[in-house]
Amino acid sequence: MSLFVAVLFMLAVVSAFSIIFWTLKNGISPMPTATKVKSELLKIELTLIPGPIYELGSGWGTLTFALAKKYPSHQVVAYETSLIPYLYCILKQYFYPQPNLHFHRLDFFHESLKEASLVICYLYPEAMQLLKDKFNEELPSGCFVISNTFAINEWHPLKAYPVDDMYHTKLYLYRYEQFP
Ligand SMILES: C[S@@+](CC[C@H](N)C(=O)[O-])C[C@H]1O[C@@H](n2cnc3c(N)ncnc32)[C@H](O)[C@@H]1O
Repeated sequence: MSLFVAVLFMLAVVSAFSIIFWTLKNGISPMPTATKVKSELLKIELTLIPGPIYELGSGWGTLTFALAKKYPSHQVVAYETSLIPYLYCILKQYFYPQPNLHFHRLDFFHESLKEASLVICYLYPEAMQLLKDKFNEELPSGCFVISNTFAINEWHPLKAYPVDDMYHTKLYLYRYEQFP
């Protein structure tokens, strides 16, 4: 085996271990939003309040780059802790830069959403439960939330968009209102 192949093999093994480690730590893999779901999500027309768009767990940037293109007058802030998908996005951003797009290798539970105009997530039920409390504490009135697949308990969506895929995926759209 040549040195080059050996190095490539080592990189692949280390990357696989990193992805497995962060999948176990985060409770979810960096599985990207499917193409059909992405195209449905991008069709949703919203008039956003001023403020950044946050993607909570941006994975391989499947939605992030498209959101930055769709909303050029908003900053798009992407949080991801899993190293390999994060590095992939940094590399993609280097070759295809989007001036309004910012990747951070941070745990979104520790970051403020007080300025948000739109929050996007594709997570899992326990995370949505924890996020519900965070949303109730931090989101400004008029902020939209779109959740792929997992609804927010006790919140009433403005609309649930069914996707014509084999999993019958739904996209849940919410508009947060603060009550005094
Ligand atoms: C199912 S993937 C979705 C990826 C992307 N949002 C998409 O739709 O293509 C969920 C991602 O959330 C990330 N994640 C989960 N919990 C996180 C946390 N607390 N902070 C940052 N990222 C997190 C995972 O590492 C994973 O990459």
